[in-house]
Amino acid sequence: MLRYWTAGESHGKALLALVDGFPAGVEIETESIDFELRRRQGGYGRGGRQRIETDQVELRSGIWHNQTLGSPIALEVINKDAKLERLDDLSRPRPGHGDLTGAIKFLGPIRGILERASARETAARVAAGALAKQLLKPFGIVAFGYVVELGGIEIIPQPGTLEEQRALRERSEIYSLNPDQDDAVKALIDAKGKEGDTLGGILEIRVEGLPFGLGTHAQWDRKLDGRLAQAVMAVQAIKGVEIGMGFRAARLPGSQVHDPIHFDAAQKNSPNLGYTRPTNNAGGLEAGMTNGQPLVIRAAKKPISTLRKALESVNLDSKQPESANYERSDVCAVPAASVILENVVAFEIACALIDKFGGDSLAEMQARWKLFHEMARER
Ligand SMILES: Cc1cc2nc3c(=O)[nH]c(=O)nc-3n(C[C@H](O)[C@H](O)[C@H](O)COP(=O)(O)O)c2cc1C
Repeated sequence: MLRYWTAGESHGKALLALVDGFPAGVEIETESIDFELRRRQGGYGRGGRQRIETDQVELRSGIWHNQTLGSPIALEVINKDAKLERLDDLSRPRPGHGDLTGAIKFLGPIRGILERASARETAARVAAGALAKQLLKPFGIVAFGYVVELGGIEIIPQPGTLEEQRALRERSEIYSLNPDQDDAVKALIDAKGKEGDTLGGILEIRVEGLPFGLGTHAQWDRKLDGRLAQAVMAVQAIKGVEIGMGFRAARLPGSQVHDPIHFDAAQKNSPNLGYTRPTNNAGGLEAGMTNGQPLVIRAAKKPISTLRKALESVNLDSKQPESANYERSDVCAVPAASVILENVVAFEIACALIDKFGGDSLAEMQARWKLFHEMARER
């Protein structure tokens, strides 16, 4: 069983991830993890914090000569802005943050809540997800995330191969698949930033190269749709998750929703084993299992809740009305959220891959992958 936990505060000494159950014999490239960490820090609309930090991962355990050992892997991302001991508490909770509820629940300072609730924690989640991607790589499984809507502007992805779309996303400061729309989106972010306001958006994550049968129909807590939804929803500021056609499916008749099944013997050796679908409205999942089609997940991210034009709040000491505290903040972190989701989704896929193909070593998993595909082609 693969799993991970994170630790660390936004302005503490470091963010940490402890990954347990990672198979032995996987080649680890630190640069690939750092690449994802850098992408998480970028995207148009981020605040001053990202100019201070240059996130890099330190692999503290579980690796020998760049290969995993099968033992727990500790990952560390050092905070340059490690000023927690010098920071004061807040007294005017920000609507949309955990400030009010956390201070009451834990009978303590708002600072103690916001430092952990902060999305700085996702540096650790991205590091764990980027590690998981290195297990997916030998199986040809690729997770790919991008922005499809920002502040109400729909961004139409340009079609292309995965490589072409990756190049488009690299060119886009919004991390979308249509850099031609960047100027309009950037202008909106600038305008809202000047007004002291913030913006949210919609992200799409696709996973290609998946085999049949990750996840299971048999027990609720091992259904892959449920696991993915939890991993995605548990990212800060994510307020909605859809798989495939999602909410739109509720408004259409079945004949326009479900993906017909065809067979093309020429594709027998690809992950779909020859079973093709003219549409992919199910988003690659049926009955909690991958069905050989690409996985497609969408998520809605709410706008940042720390507004320069602060919202109405109450001073917790005097109980008098006052505007909420303002702390240095992003105007828009939708592009960064696409990186976080890509990596948390990759981690869940790695978990499901290990559940299906065993997890002691990469070599054993590859042998079982091969055997399963041989048997499934004969089914
Ligand atoms: C990449 C990313 C960056 C974020 N940056 C900020 C920020 O600068 N200021 C802020 O108030 N909230 C920010 N958030 C959102 C808060 O962390 C989040 O709204 C808060 O912890 C409350 O949790 P909830 O929105 O999930 O209910 C960010 C979220 C993400 C995903």
